[in-house]
Amino acid sequence: MNSAKSPAKKSWLQTLIKNKNERKKVIFIFTISFLLVVAGLIYIPIYKHSLPLDSKIYEGNFKELGSIARIGFFAALAIYPIFLLLKWKPLSHIKKGNFELKPLIQFLAKYVRQWHVPIALISTAMIILHGYMALIKGFQANFTYFSGIITMAVLACLLVMGVKRYKRTDKKWHLKFAISFLVLFMIHATFS
Ligand code: HEM
Ligand code: HEM
Repeated sequence: MNSAKSPAKKSWLQTLIKNKNERKKVIFIFTISFLLVVAGLIYIPIYKHSLPLDSKIYEGNFKELGSIARIGFFAALAIYPIFLLLKWKPLSHIKKGNFELKPLIQFLAKYVRQWHVPIALISTAMIILHGYMALIKGFQANFTYFSGIITMAVLACLLVMGVKRYKRTDKKWHLKFAISFLVLFMIHATFS
């Protein structure tokens, strides 16, 4: 009889995110983001009639959501220049007295990597509510609405490729979508 224990079968998420703490953090933040979106999607229509949709307060609120998410997306994007800098050979030679630049960049890289996905998830939840609030205010066939919807579609592709990025099967599409997303949301927010 074969008494050797077969290794416990790993779940899809365990194979995707190998580090236990990172996995826990992503599950926790994903749940919070999901609940935030569900609460917003339920709450906003229920109180739609009492909300002053045309008021400056409503407009201010959904713009505020867009602005906060934009800061989050910039923080998520920071992973690119920081990782690039780490690969830059002359970095280890940059010193001023006792101060060395490389350990500082390594420190930043650690935190930017740890918080990349959680920040992206929370920002996405906020931007979904931003788009939703803009749409229920009343769709208008103008540049702002079209550019917002296109930016949102690119964000969806970026997130899918983000999941593939864990296993490095994204064929650089995560980066390509990230750059397109940056350009599009800048255009959308600047010319709205
Ligand atoms: C369904 C998708 C979207 C729709 C319908 C939409 C709609 C709008 C509208 C109507 C405005 C206000 C324009 C104005 O009157 O000044 C706006 C502003 C803005 N949107 Fe979107 N948007 C969408 C997606 C996005 C996405 C994906 C981002 C990504 C960051 C974004 C970021 C912003 C920002 C930063 C502003 C400027 C806020 C401010 O003035 O402070 N939006 N959007
Ligand atoms: C569900 C959301 C996301 C997931 C799961 C995800 C996942 C990842 C992973 C695993 C990496 C590689 C990190 C490493 O090399 O150790 C990465 C890198 C990167 N991510 Fe994301 N990401 C997400 C959202 C975003 C968003 C919203 C942006 C842009 C605003 C973004 C921009 C980038 C960039 C520029 C890089 C560096 C280039 C590259 O390695 O492809 N990501 N992401």
